[in-house]
Amino acid sequence: MSSRRATLASELVSAGSAGVSGEVLAGRLGVSRVAVGKHIAALREMGYEIQAVRGEGYRLSSVPDAAVPIEVERRVKDRMWVRFEGGGETASTNDDCKGFARTGAPEGTVVLATRQTGGRGRLGRTWVSPEGGVYLSALLRPALVPADAAPLALVIALGVSLGLDTIGVRTTLKWPNDVLLDGRKVAGVLLEMSAEADRVDWMVAGCGVNVHAAPGALAGVAFVDEAAEHSCAEVAAAVLDGIAGAYRAFGADGFSALVGQYEDRHALAGTGVTVRDMEGRIVASGRVVRVDDSGRLLVDDAGTVTPVTSGEVTLGVPPGR
Ligand code: BTN
Repeated sequence: MSSRRATLASELVSAGSAGVSGEVLAGRLGVSRVAVGKHIAALREMGYEIQAVRGEGYRLSSVPDAAVPIEVERRVKDRMWVRFEGGGETASTNDDCKGFARTGAPEGTVVLATRQTGGRGRLGRTWVSPEGGVYLSALLRPALVPADAAPLALVIALGVSLGLDTIGVRTTLKWPNDVLLDGRKVAGVLLEMSAEADRVDWMVAGCGVNVHAAPGALAGVAFVDEAAEHSCAEVAAAVLDGIAGAYRAFGADGFSALVGQYEDRHALAGTGVTVRDMEGRIVASGRVVRVDDSGRLLVDDAGTVTPVTSGEVTLGVPPGR
């Protein structure tokens, strides 16, 4: 991905209907006018509508409404995000990002897609991924031992929620890492990791956000544009900046620095729940007390509090418990 193209797109957006000459663009990008022409052609290929007006230069008439790398790159504010890949259709951005991780890509590499044909969710589920959503995976290389990495799923979900706050979309969290809008799921997080006994090598934080209710979208979920109108690129950039802030705070001070913010938006607090493991066995049921400083869900069953480290939560307590 070329940052020059992101700069070029930004220049065209700032020029607006006045347009901007090839000569000015060449100067700002530090390239020849011929190279500007080539970058303009590449942007058009990606769905940008750019008019060339003889004697005047280039005028942008529309940008793609998708989380394409250039549109996300020019919106993110956090310097953690250093490389932007993908942008079209893929099977799974998590799989692509894992490929980059294995070949030594730096922390802060981001893989984006406009749709996924094999999107994956937690617990082996499918993540339905039509156009109109944000599908991104971020490569992290935390300096942690694997045992200390458990809260990261909560950290990433909190980051997504904090990022959505910045564009006026107020969400809550369902432990461990579901993001809800008006009680329905609007975003999910899938964390995958490669580690040795004493250190994490890489983590891929995959995040899917329902933005527009486009054809093929699931029923029963929520969409960002029910709360506020935003392009997929704006949503992706906001989410990435939110993740970066939460991840940095976790790296500096651990989950205890974030637990208050997590609790402020915790949808399950005070609710009766049942938590099951991967095999469907009940590991705890009762009333949710809170999330503790290690990211564990504390569930109170008639005065006995069970700290739960992982599992699938359903609302309600089975009869007789
Ligand atoms: C869940 O709630 O079950 C987690 C869903 C995670 C979906 C995202 S979309 C981008 C990334 N690529 C994938 O295949 N999955 C994650």
